[in-house]
Amino acid sequence: MNATHMLAPLFSIFLACAAQADDLRLPAGAPPAFQSECGACHLAFPPRLLAAEDWRRVMAGLDRHYGDNASLDAPTRRAIEAYLVENAGKPRKLGPGGTAAPGEAPRLTATAWFKRKHHEVPPASWRHAEVRSPANCAACHKQAASGSYREREIVMPGGRRWQD
Ligand code: HEC
Ligand code: HEC
Repeated sequence: MNATHMLAPLFSIFLACAAQADDLRLPAGAPPAFQSECGACHLAFPPRLLAAEDWRRVMAGLDRHYGDNASLDAPTRRAIEAYLVENAGKPRKLGPGGTAAPGEAPRLTATAWFKRKHHEVPPASWRHAEVRSPANCAACHKQAASGSYREREIVMPGGRRWQD
């Protein structure tokens, strides 16, 4: 066996890992209300981007949801919470930051994972009029609604492609 043959399996493992980072499609089994309720004001965020404990906190405070009222009837709330918790991210992978101070809601845009993925983004881009908030994923990730975050699909505020 020559060196190329030995490295080929390693390379496919590398490709599999690299492909995962930009693929945040919603896992199967979402209750219909997840898209219609949690996708009404912003993107229906991929469950993997917050830890289970943080999703429980978000779902426990829907009446005061980042300045909005996002209340649901109890059965719908329970179904969505179960889906989010079941598909939540691992705290070890997300790193610190998502869990907010007592009385504040957790933010997936505050995790170490999110910051690492965006370390090359100029700070002014987050405040640009076409973006306004890091939570506005679709402002830059043009295919975010279908769960795809490939770098070649990114268009920065002002219309500049991230990669050409
Ligand atoms: C009535 C509008 C509305 C509805 C409905 C709504 N949200 Fe939100 N949500 C907001 C607003 C406003 C913010 C703050 C966005 C920002 O800071 O840019 C927010 C922020 C969030 C964040 C934090 C994003 C960050 O900055 O990391 C999470 C997580 C979240 N929502 C989850 C949910 C879930 C889960 C549901 C469904 C149960 C839901 N939202 C339904 C309005 C809503
Ligand atoms: C201001 C534009 C902007 C916004 C808003 C934004 N991103 Fe990004 N995102 C980028 C850029 C640019 C990169 C590549 C940056 C780098 O390599 O440092 C990136 C990278 C990523 C990656 C890594 C892709 C890969 O190939 O590894 C993921 C995943 C991601 N973003 C998810 C999100 C999610 C989820 C949100 C919303 C909660 C979001 N982004 C909001 C601009 C943005």
